[in-house]
Amino acid sequence: MRNVTINGQNITLTTDQNIQVAIAVYSPTVVRVRMDKQPLAADFSYAVIAKPAQTKASITQTDTDITITTDSLTARVLKSPFAVAFFTKGGKVINQDEEGLTTSWIGEEVTTYKKMQEGERFIGLGEKTGGLDRRGSGYTNWNTDAFGYRSDQDPLYTTFPFYIGIHSGLNYGIFMDNSYQSDFNFGASNNRFSSFGAQGGEMDYYFIYHTQLTDIIRSYTDLTGRMDLPPLWSLGYQQNRYSYYPETEVYRIAQTLREKKIPADGITLDIHYMDAYKLFTWDKSRFGDPLAMNKKLKDMGFKTTVIVDPGIKVEDNYGAYERGKKDNIFLKYHDGRNYTGEVWPGWTHFPDFTSEQGREWWKKELKFFSDTGVDGFWNDMNEIATWGQKMPHNVLFDFDGHPTTNKEGHNVYGMQMARASYEGARQHSPNKRTFLLSRAGYSGSQRYTAIWTGDNRAEDNHMLLGIRLMNSLGVSGVAFSAMDIGGFTGNPSVELYSRWIQLGAFTPYFRNHTAVNTKSSEPWAYGEEVTEIARNFISLRYKLIPYIYSNFYEASQTGQPLMRTLAIDYTHDPNVYNREFDSQYQFGKAFLIMPFESGKQYGKVYFPKGKWYNLFTGEVEQGGQEKLIGIQYNKLPIYVKESSIIPIQSLVQHTGEKPTDTLTVHVYKGDVSNSFVYYEDDGESYDYENGGYYKRTIQYDPRRKAITFDQVEGNFTSNFNNIKVVLHGFIGTKKVKLNSKNQSLAKDFASFLEPISRFDPQGVANPLEGYEVQSLVVKNDKNRFTINF
Ligand code: NOJ
Repeated sequence: MRNVTINGQNITLTTDQNIQVAIAVYSPTVVRVRMDKQPLAADFSYAVIAKPAQTKASITQTDTDITITTDSLTARVLKSPFAVAFFTKGGKVINQDEEGLTTSWIGEEVTTYKKMQEGERFIGLGEKTGGLDRRGSGYTNWNTDAFGYRSDQDPLYTTFPFYIGIHSGLNYGIFMDNSYQSDFNFGASNNRFSSFGAQGGEMDYYFIYHTQLTDIIRSYTDLTGRMDLPPLWSLGYQQNRYSYYPETEVYRIAQTLREKKIPADGITLDIHYMDAYKLFTWDKSRFGDPLAMNKKLKDMGFKTTVIVDPGIKVEDNYGAYERGKKDNIFLKYHDGRNYTGEVWPGWTHFPDFTSEQGREWWKKELKFFSDTGVDGFWNDMNEIATWGQKMPHNVLFDFDGHPTTNKEGHNVYGMQMARASYEGARQHSPNKRTFLLSRAGYSGSQRYTAIWTGDNRAEDNHMLLGIRLMNSLGVSGVAFSAMDIGGFTGNPSVELYSRWIQLGAFTPYFRNHTAVNTKSSEPWAYGEEVTEIARNFISLRYKLIPYIYSNFYEASQTGQPLMRTLAIDYTHDPNVYNREFDSQYQFGKAFLIMPFESGKQYGKVYFPKGKWYNLFTGEVEQGGQEKLIGIQYNKLPIYVKESSIIPIQSLVQHTGEKPTDTLTVHVYKGDVSNSFVYYEDDGESYDYENGGYYKRTIQYDPRRKAITFDQVEGNFTSNFNNIKVVLHGFIGTKKVKLNSKNQSLAKDFASFLEPISRFDPQGVANPLEGYEVQSLVVKNDKNRFTINF
């Protein structure tokens, strides 16, 4: 090691093999390591938005090593041979380079090898197939148009080179910020190391250490950013297919949803709305007056999302093509000719979204849609997908002033397209939130867009796979995710469709979608009973909107996902990685969802530590046990964690409809303390950035036997004049104290599916399912209040 320079929180050095190294302390829990065979390039990243924070880090040097000590960890850089290791303050190894291999090159390919720790598990990497625990597997990141992918296929559409390692009661995160094709090996075909590497560029990784996974996710999203608050309507049910047209068909769908009392907020238009698949056009024979149509849909409580594809048809006199040519924004070869690839419209050029001019051009073009009252942009085919699936590597990307080839540009293209759409939407509708969805992505995409898992299949294993893909996206910074409910390719059985729609109600973006030429995917296409089941679960979803929206607020503040793999809260419980249970997840912290293949009448579930209430019956299950449970066709097994706090509202048919003026807060008795941040705002503007919100923390404290609603923050007037607190499991409690004054409780009835099923082939009325609870109504006057039980 030569030229060691220590400057505040930064170390630079050169190894005897002329490797340039820079190590920077970003915070007491985040250390960045950069290495290259040549002088390190000027710092540039599409993913990372954080700058190093001023930190008390001590960096000392001896003949053999350099030691970095922060409040949270110790990092040691061994001088000969060069190697990096991270330790807890107590000296336990968290993560260390594999001696002898450390970071090394094969030609341009660079890889860092880490010693495989005893019992080490790995989770994350975003949208990756396989089990929750990635130990024993290897993965490639190369954004791919994976039509009808196999349930073990890799790579898929996105690149999230971030994972969490777990061993010996410890856990850490590693984010490798390199957009070249990258490869991760978690002990696949080797018993020696885990590794991460890329086909080119620098080794550039961030090591994150915390004792809780939630904090690792927070730190990772400190680095790469978090989502904005979504428009409230995007939390409602979205009906879609490839494609609804003409506009009379769109109205028919919207109207039928209303007539059948299936709540819904969104209709999505797939590629057939365009004239010959030409972007920034409408097929006038199908959609004569899009502005009027979108207005009419809005009046019915529906928002329109349109698909946007990056390929611009090469056709003289086609406006977008001519303007793109004039502004010179298309991707090119090095001889200056535009790259041409084939996709829906035929031969097309592609805007260079990695250039400022390319994004500016796109933003200008998007006005076309904003002017017709569109509320969402669905960025598709942005891997880039082209027929042939082998975009040449010699296509050049501006990479925001760091010219490069497809090798480095490819994996960020989709993210930069979503960024341009996001920025365009904000420009054209400055105080209205627009919904953004993207198929391709890279770390940091969550700042601009939700991600969905592309062209899945109408098969049971895909339904469960989709859950794991979203759970994994969740620990990789993407809180807002989706899968095509019902499956994209093929036709689901009635049972599968029914189970999928029940599960869909407990996913962040709830969209039913199917391919062209498949069976209709609206609930009523599956018969009366399924329509009833869909109505019940979608209605439950709408009642849960206050809970779900508050969870989105949490995601926007700390990066915590809506869908939480059990690994987040039960990290060191081996059962949560058991393949039998590894699709189970929490939806927010309160709900435990047990996904099962359709048609199963019994299934084994695992209840992690604690007490769990059956959502429908109130019965309590003890945690720390496996259990065989009966599975009803019309009722996804759902449990509520003890001490949970769940705010709900009355049923509405869309989020624009006002609920009754009572917010119902369900509280489940338990032995652990808990708190929930309730958040409300207008759901559509950015006024929350200037204090236009209503926020309060609700706490459950079993030791003090108290439920406390803190003083309200913010200056938004809540929709609700009253708060009804419903107590579950408080058997025998008849009276409570409200702010120290005695208060009797009212007898109440908790019923989450009302009615469970109106469809009744035997003609015997189904009794309303539910159970008795107690409740108390309090005026919502913004003041702090405490209920003592
Ligand atoms: C591919 C997308 O993944 C799919 O959802 C869409 O329906 C088709 N493109 C057609 O636009």
